[in-house]
Amino acid sequence: MPVQRLATAPQPVPLGRETLPARRGQWARALTHLASLVPLALLIWDGAQGQLTVNPIQEITQRTGKTALALLVLSLACTPANRVLGLRVALLLRRPLGLYAFLYASLHLLTFFVLDYGLDVELIWGAVAEKRYVLAGLGAFVLLVPLALTSTRGWMRRLGRRWKPLHRLVYLAASLAVLHYVWLVKADIREPLLYGAAVAVLLGLRLPPVRRALASLRLALSAS
Ligand code: HEM
Repeated sequence: MPVQRLATAPQPVPLGRETLPARRGQWARALTHLASLVPLALLIWDGAQGQLTVNPIQEITQRTGKTALALLVLSLACTPANRVLGLRVALLLRRPLGLYAFLYASLHLLTFFVLDYGLDVELIWGAVAEKRYVLAGLGAFVLLVPLALTSTRGWMRRLGRRWKPLHRLVYLAASLAVLHYVWLVKADIREPLLYGAAVAVLLGLRLPPVRRALASLRLALSAS
């Protein structure tokens, strides 16, 4: 009976005006949670085994910093993945990826302030004032705080039209994080530049002329 079939069919997950089969979305979300927690689990495991190199604080700072940046870039890639590649499932992953990026950035910051600088306000202030890479990192983190706090559906509703422009700040946060990385490496800047290129491409894909060109390309491809 059609009515019964409707009742047992997986319910679509609302995505604004779009919908997605619930099961595919759930699997993708579960995998995202799992994959995002792996670096933290490895960090805890290696710490418990005493395998965090001879400089554990530096190792924790580096691992948490790199994971935060990688997840931030992945969260930025979700909207273009939907628009350019038609991967609607990516829209469901944007928020968890962004929140995990914030989690790792918080751990990164705590490692620096608590473990490295022993919460010594004078020392920390000195580092912020003297080291431009610390200032850039702090700027990136400060921008991420309101984005993480307002990422819930409730805040989306409350902020209405202002939510989108606020959340565009994520591009500035990612750019500052890349600058932070470029400024702190001493010799080989290939990796930070790679992250920089990724952020630039993802930002470029949001520009209206590029979006229009891609939309007409997709239309032409689907018509042929
Ligand atoms: C107040 C804020 C921040 C401070 C004080 C800070 C501090 C540091 C320090 C001291 C290092 C160098 C570790 C070392 O090689 O000895 C580092 C590395 C790094 N940080 Fe930050 N950071 C901050 C915010 C951020 C944020 C928000 C992100 C990303 C979202 C980030 C991403 C990175 C990356 C990718 C590295 C390089 C890791 C590597 O060398 O493999 N940092 N940070």
